[in-house]
Amino acid sequence: MRSNLFAKMKDRIKDLLDEIDNFNADSLDNVEAFRIKFLGSKGILKDLFTNFKNVDVCENKDIGQSLNNLRKTETDKVNALKNSLENSSQDKSNYGDLTRPAEPINLGSRHPISIVKNKIIDVFSRIGFTVSEGPEIEDDWHNFTALNLPEYHPARDMQDTFFIEKDPDILLRTHTSSVQVRYMENHKPPIRTISPGRVFRNEDISARAHCIFHQVEGLYIDTDVSFADLKQTLLYFTKEMFGKSKIRLRPSYFPFTEPSAEVDIYWGLETETDYKITKGTGWLEIMGCGMVDPNVLENANIDPLVYSGFAFGMGIERIAMLLYQIPDIRMFYENDVRFLKQFKLVI
Ligand code: DAH
Repeated sequence: MRSNLFAKMKDRIKDLLDEIDNFNADSLDNVEAFRIKFLGSKGILKDLFTNFKNVDVCENKDIGQSLNNLRKTETDKVNALKNSLENSSQDKSNYGDLTRPAEPINLGSRHPISIVKNKIIDVFSRIGFTVSEGPEIEDDWHNFTALNLPEYHPARDMQDTFFIEKDPDILLRTHTSSVQVRYMENHKPPIRTISPGRVFRNEDISARAHCIFHQVEGLYIDTDVSFADLKQTLLYFTKEMFGKSKIRLRPSYFPFTEPSAEVDIYWGLETETDYKITKGTGWLEIMGCGMVDPNVLENANIDPLVYSGFAFGMGIERIAMLLYQIPDIRMFYENDVRFLKQFKLVI
C-alpha cells in the first residue's frame, strides 16, 4: 500500500508537468517569472523537496526521481523559451518583418538643364551634328583672339571675365564659342558639330542672370554654305524643340560672325504668361547666330575662299525657363528636391 502523502505528491508532480508543458511566454520577463515560480528560493520545487523529507523511506526513491525529473523539465523549458525569444528579437533587428511588402524605391530625376541639353543634342544629331566639348579653363586665344576679338576690342567688355592668370591670360571661358575654334583646329571640313557646356561670367546674380550657366554652340562648315542653310537649320530646330514654326532673324553684331543675327521665335499671345514672357509682343529671343567671319576661319587654318559656314549659340537655362515656365534662374542651382522632382515625368 502506498501512503497518502506519496499519492498526493505524485498527483501534484503530474499536474505541474502538465503546467510546464502547456506554458508559453511572449517575453523574457514572463519566462523569468515562470522560472522563479518553480526554481526560486521560495519556489514550488523548494516546497516539494521540503515535503519529500516526510515521505516514507521505501517510497522516497520514486518521489526523488520524479522531483529531479520535474526540476529538469522546468529548467529545459525555461532555457528553450529564452533561446527562442532572444533569437526572434535578433531576427527583428537584422531583417525587420520579412513578410512586409517592400518599400517603394524612390527614383531620382534628371536635372532640367540635362533634359533640355539632351533634347537639343537629340534634335541636332538627327541632322548629322556631332557633339564636341572643350575645356572650361581657356586661354585668351580660344576664348577671344581667334574669334576676331583682339586685345582692346570693345566687345570684350560685353562678357565680364573671370581671369585665373595674367600674361599670358588664362580664364574661365565666357562662352562655348571657344570650342568652335578648337574643333576647327583639329578637324577638316565638312564640319557639323554642337558643343554644350558650362560658361562663366563675372555678373551679379539675380532672377535672370547667374555667374555660371550653360550654352550650346553650333558650327557648320562646308563649301557653298549660305545664310539660307542657317535659316532652314534654325527653323527645323525651333519646330522640333518648341513646336513653333515662325521665326525671324534680326540683324545684330557678334565679332565672330558676319553678317550676324539674333533669332526670335513667335511664341504667341494666347495666355497671360505668353504676354508676360514676350513683354506683350508675342516674340522671344532665343539665340545669336551668323555666318562665320572669314578671319575666324583663317585663324583656325581653314581657307575662307574655299569654305564658308554658319554658327549659333544659345543659353540652355533660358530655354529651360521658357519650356518649363521657371521664374528664377537661381532655382537651377539650389538643388531643392521639391523643385527637382517636378521633372520626373518629362524625360
Ligand atoms: N557667344 C555668344 C554669346 O555668348 C553667342 C553666339 C552668338 C554664338 C552668335 C555664336 C554666334 O556662335 O554666331 O553671347
